[in-house]
Amino acid sequence: MASELTWLGHGSWSIKSLGQAILLDPFLDDSPVSPVKSGEVDADWILVSHGHFDHMADAERIARRTGATIIANFEICQWFAAKGLEKTHAMNLGGGFDFPFGRVKMTIAHHTSMLPDGANGGNPAGFVVALPEGNVYFACDTGLFSDMRLIGACGLALAALPIGDNYTMGPDDALEAVRLLAPRRVVPVHNKTWPLIDQDADAWAARVRAETAAEPLVIQPGATISL
Ligand code: NI
Ligand code: MN
Repeated sequence: MASELTWLGHGSWSIKSLGQAILLDPFLDDSPVSPVKSGEVDADWILVSHGHFDHMADAERIARRTGATIIANFEICQWFAAKGLEKTHAMNLGGGFDFPFGRVKMTIAHHTSMLPDGANGGNPAGFVVALPEGNVYFACDTGLFSDMRLIGACGLALAALPIGDNYTMGPDDALEAVRLLAPRRVVPVHNKTWPLIDQDADAWAARVRAETAAEPLVIQPGATISL
């Protein structure tokens, strides 16, 4: 069965690959745009890109209910472990590991990562997830950086890029990111959750189509992409 990626709004994803359920940056219960609540999602693995609440607010709750393993940087894994979560897998920037659902490589992100209680959340990250059908890059929260060219060199079937501006790349820089990454398909995220990051995804997609070789996918929260 083809891998399926369901956007849960903002930066949250539910991924099904090789019989495994993976959540990325779960922010569901307090999200104004999530189509599901934390009690309704499956998880064997939970990827957390950085320490901000809008990327990890529901990770602990879901991990306790499902027994999922949290994959994050060392500092965030330590923080969850101190809360009594025993199943964590710490990584760091530039490192990769072969998980049962595919290889995950932790990439740089230009952002911050303080945890909700003020604890040091280490460095923020993005992820390249090598699914059976191709590589998927989740930029997560980041500004534009020219090393995206290196990230794209592995060949990307799909890239999920923030376009919301203010906290992350806005539409102009996200367009440049598409040029550097050269993914086959690209989906805009971290947009419209709140008025401060309300960008016109359709207008951005039109520019992607006109100015790059990538195919833009503008989807609504709850929609699923098959790889
Ligand atoms: Ni953030
Ligand atoms: Mn964010």
